[in-house]
Amino acid sequence: MIKLKFMKILMVCLGNICRSPLAEGILAQKAIQKGLNWKIESAGTYGGHAGEKPDGRSIKVALKHNIDIEKQRSRQFNAYDLEQFDIIYAMDSANLKDLLKHAQNDEEIAKVKMIMNELEPDENVDVPDPYYGEFGFENVYKMLEAACDVIVEKYK
Ligand code: 4NP
Repeated sequence: MIKLKFMKILMVCLGNICRSPLAEGILAQKAIQKGLNWKIESAGTYGGHAGEKPDGRSIKVALKHNIDIEKQRSRQFNAYDLEQFDIIYAMDSANLKDLLKHAQNDEEIAKVKMIMNELEPDENVDVPDPYYGEFGFENVYKMLEAACDVIVEKYK
């Protein structure tokens, strides 16, 4: 009998309109392709974009790779997420710091990880914030895709 783990994974960035919606969409597609019935969501440490669709530039780059993220809506991270989810991936070190402020015990602290550490352990590489345009959305996509490839193989 093949036993599959049911993973609950939350992707977190600042606004939940650029990076983490892409991370959610990419991982969800990979999980489906592998037949994994995982719960994958995303949230932002900052709630100022709550209720909004992902940034048009994230929607566009996802579509280019046959992933539709347009139906996602931004929401703010909350302390209950630390109870509910198995792993919470921060896109950068500022997100990590904000998430850890909410952790109530060692178990919750252990759930919070830098997403790029899946690819380069302990290097604490940030997924740069593409909102102001200097770091392209395609570059963000490539980084997240590489990390999500490791995540599906590691936890499937
Ligand atoms: P994200 O990008 O954290 O990747 O969603 C940002 C979105 C909005 C803002 C900053 C970053 N903002 O300052 O409104």
